[in-house]
Amino acid sequence: MSDTARVLILGSTGSIGTQTLAVIGHLNALHARGESPTRFEVVGLAARRNAALLREQVAHWHVGHAALVENGDAAPTPAHLRRGPDAPERLVREVECDVVVAAMVGIAGLPPTLAAVELGRTVALANKETLVAGGGLVTAIAKRSCAAILPVDSEHAALWQCLPGDRTAPPLSAPSSVARAVITASGGPFRARSAQDVYDATPEEALRHPTWTMGPKVTIDSATLMNKALELIEAHWLFGLEADRLGVLIHPQSIVHALVETTDGQVFAHLAAPDMRTPIQHALTYPRRAAACTASLPLAGLSRLDFAVPDVGRFPALRLGFEAVGAGGAAGAVLNAANEVAVEAFLARRLAFGRITEVTERVTREIVPSPAGTLSEILDADGAARTCARRLISD
Ligand SMILES: NC(=O)c1ccc[n+]([C@@H]2O[C@H](COP(=O)([O-])OP(=O)(O)OC[C@H]3O[C@@H](n4cnc5c(N)ncnc54)[C@H](OP(=O)(O)O)[C@@H]3O)[C@@H](O)[C@H]2O)c1
Repeated sequence: MSDTARVLILGSTGSIGTQTLAVIGHLNALHARGESPTRFEVVGLAARRNAALLREQVAHWHVGHAALVENGDAAPTPAHLRRGPDAPERLVREVECDVVVAAMVGIAGLPPTLAAVELGRTVALANKETLVAGGGLVTAIAKRSCAAILPVDSEHAALWQCLPGDRTAPPLSAPSSVARAVITASGGPFRARSAQDVYDATPEEALRHPTWTMGPKVTIDSATLMNKALELIEAHWLFGLEADRLGVLIHPQSIVHALVETTDGQVFAHLAAPDMRTPIQHALTYPRRAAACTASLPLAGLSRLDFAVPDVGRFPALRLGFEAVGAGGAAGAVLNAANEVAVEAFLARRLAFGRITEVTERVTREIVPSPAGTLSEILDADGAARTCARRLISD
């Protein structure tokens, strides 16, 4: 049996976007050799401002449709190019496809991803802000439209594969036999250093991640452990788990990505090399599997796997993540927006590293989470948190 899957990539010029195209190249080579039944056709690409790379991708993959949010002068030809802030959403609504890979960074990824979910598309979800800020709305619409949301974030892809039960079930609710779902964190570049020691860390130091190569925003979030806080909220929505059934462990080797503890006292762990191409490929080929484009994990060479309970005193972002899961409503949107503004200010050298979480926490204390039943309510909460964070940063 041979089939074609039409793929639309939001954020094609970023770390996840370019790796998605690399995986598609690999899967198509397998298909050409008769080793995989599916051929992938890239039908749409969206970026923010990297017109040069977008143009190159359009030409290489013979893509018919593209979207560029800024810097629209350099038109990628021959694709039909949509321009402006709502260009990614229009691309999703106007171009037929089977899978949308949501790999834009930040809250900007929510409207086009929500549109894909409304249309009942299968969404390979990397953009964690979609569920962090809009989880209640997105999952409710997914249930109605029957859109499958397939996690690309490595920890959630790992949790999904460790869950007991039917592998074909969409991962929106975990069975009651799951006692606890645990995601791991490498601890980032500052795992072994005191909060005082890293207070004035530079962007260059914070961007030096020990195990993963990622875009700048998610790398800084890994250094504060806010990334894990956002992932807790994401896991809450993806698997219907409350805070008392979610956990985080520090695991510096980044080999075990998640663990599921069942009520009968067993623990299922997911192991893989820290390489995003693995969960990207898993989401693209689901429910099948295909030969990997990455080296296999050298199990015999793994001399040790360490786990430790995170120090929430040193990494208060984790506490904020658990609190946002408990608070519900727009709490995730507020946390995410405040953190986005703080990280942006840190990267622009306008805020000390040690103040990123402090500013974020103050915003979560000042803004009372509103309901998050509509996109405009979510975006209002996002806007209020941004204004508050900017004020605190400039004070
Ligand atoms: N990288 C990882 O390993 C990893 C792992 C797990 C989850 N994630 C999540 O995946 C998402 C993408 O991460 P990344 O590391 O790939 O980010 P990245 O390297 O910074 O790439 C971001 C992509 O989004 C585009 N973009 C940014 N702002 C946009 C906007 N306002 N409108 C339209 N497009 C916009 C960028 O376009 P330009 O290039 O034109 O700016 C780029 O294509 C994030 O939510 C992240 O948390 C990433």
